[in-house]
Amino acid sequence: MPRPRLFVTRLLPEPVMARILEGYDLAQPPHESSPDLRTLLAGIRTADALLCTLTERIDTRVLEHAPRLKVVANYAVGYNNIDVDAARHHNIVVTNTPDVLTDATADLTWALLCAVARRVPEGHALVQGGGWTGWSPTQLLGSAISGQTLGIVGLGRIGRGVAERARGFRMPVLYTGGSSAPETADVSWCGTTLDDLLRRSDFVSLHVPSTPATYHLIGRRELSLMRATAYLINTARGSIVDEAALVEALQEDRLAGAALDVYEQEPAIHDGLRSSSKVVTLPHLGSATLHTRIRMGLVCLDNIDAVLRGNRAPNRVV
Ligand code: GLV
Ligand code: GLV
Repeated sequence: MPRPRLFVTRLLPEPVMARILEGYDLAQPPHESSPDLRTLLAGIRTADALLCTLTERIDTRVLEHAPRLKVVANYAVGYNNIDVDAARHHNIVVTNTPDVLTDATADLTWALLCAVARRVPEGHALVQGGGWTGWSPTQLLGSAISGQTLGIVGLGRIGRGVAERARGFRMPVLYTGGSSAPETADVSWCGTTLDDLLRRSDFVSLHVPSTPATYHLIGRRELSLMRATAYLINTARGSIVDEAALVEALQEDRLAGAALDVYEQEPAIHDGLRSSSKVVTLPHLGSATLHTRIRMGLVCLDNIDAVLRGNRAPNRVV
């Protein structure tokens, strides 16, 4: 039996590439960067399976060039880069990588929260730049974290992971979405409306998927409900926040700060989010640990193998 033909759009960590080379023929050699549209269309033409990342837009134009394609395995939990209606129309299964990246993304959310509240990038730059003249009672004063109220917008897998980590910080948690709070909580977890959460939280962390319904979920009106001493943290998707409105709120001191891993037009970012001491920015690193990125690749391959063998994909979203 001929080996299935796989189009993998980017080079993945070594153990994942090893399993790919063992089990599949490659439609195109993968590179560090995303293929251009021409390469994508050429590669997809002969592929039985596509393993793609969130930087490739997989829409009708791509899928109608894929007569043999049975499955698109997205190397991410979010799959807003894929036109799922077009996939459904072409009878192509779409899968994602939930669970394996929950801890990594929840950890990074806390790294951002702590960094923006305690001014970690500014302190680092001061020391590295040779400008530090010694301890001072008034230098780089930040905000309290422990005991403050954490607002989780979207209590799904990652939102819950972030909220669970609040326990050590003794932070009461407000949340939207999610069916129920965990039972063991020795700090309070309280489901509420988005507006109430925005009014009462000291840290607002976003964990909803990118869909038409969540586009600019946090816009001018929502930002105006937040406390002037509060921080916004986004490790979900850039489209959830109206960046222009966020910049305005920061510039007008209606918000203490923002810590962002994702942006509306990645890799471009709004000018007002650069060179502001109130903003901490990372280059979409939520799942970026070696361990997690290997597991994500193996999950993609498990899903592809299942579909090509005629079984149900464990992480089917379409
Ligand atoms: C990363 O952003 C993901 O959706 O996995
Ligand atoms: C600070 O370094 C302290 O000892 O309080």
